[in-house]
Amino acid sequence: MNREENKRLNRETKPHSIVTPPHWENSHGGNDEYIPVQIPNVPRSCRPPSLGWMEMRLDGSDMDCLWKYIETAKKENVTINNSANKRLAGNISSSLTLVDSDNFFRKVLDPLCAQYQLMFGDTPNIKATPSMHPLELVDMWVNFQKKHEFNPAHTHTGIFSFVIFMKIPTNYRDQKKLSIANLSNSDAISNFAFSYVDIFGNITHHPMIMSPEYEGIILLFPSSLPHQVYPFYESDETRITISGNLGLNTKLIFDENSGLIKETSLLSEVNKKIDPTPSPQKRNLFSGL
Ligand SMILES: [Fe+2]
Repeated sequence: MNREENKRLNRETKPHSIVTPPHWENSHGGNDEYIPVQIPNVPRSCRPPSLGWMEMRLDGSDMDCLWKYIETAKKENVTINNSANKRLAGNISSSLTLVDSDNFFRKVLDPLCAQYQLMFGDTPNIKATPSMHPLELVDMWVNFQKKHEFNPAHTHTGIFSFVIFMKIPTNYRDQKKLSIANLSNSDAISNFAFSYVDIFGNITHHPMIMSPEYEGIILLFPSSLPHQVYPFYESDETRITISGNLGLNTKLIFDENSGLIKETSLLSEVNKKIDPTPSPQKRNLFSGL
């Protein structure tokens, strides 16, 4: 095999594929034809598939909408973590419930979830659902974080969750120079970080290096992806973020036969034929609910 043939094979061969070994067919009764993996004799890297998150900068009108939500929440002053309902892990000053009065869900969140599925495919959470329901915004809140406060490693409930950085009063480069952090080998101080398990089984942290430049950025991630927020120091300003969860609206269901979204209670043939793994294209049908 010459070098050009190798290059062609390297281009044409999928970097990661599942091949059924010959004995599988006999012992499991499968009908798939066994195709040996074509691995070229030039090195190539192989990366197993893994999920991730989406990030996007919101436009000015979206940020105006969210700041309006925050001002309304301050007036209403409905805390999401009252003494009888400790829903959040954060060790922070205040978290107020937000009301999506201008349908930020419809404009930004639901399309972003569809984008996630286009990029990554279905999440394990969605695959686990037996039927096909549209997403809905389950809850949304604003966090007011002062210096020394933190949000320990935690996960959310739902299918997708999100965080939006509204006000970041500190810069990691300055925070890292403080005496509490300048001898540390970690890049934790003041940052937001996702945690996941790598191919060695080690828990790995992916920090978002916080600075005012992160204001206006939304991160959308599977709700079960662990994450944390590390404290910042010395600044007396307040760090403001918005968080929320998206779940399945089980009151509605996509009927593949009619192509319509119906109320679950009106569907007598609800179990007739339901695609167990709704495609991103079908997910787009839900945008606008
Ligand atoms: Fe969180």
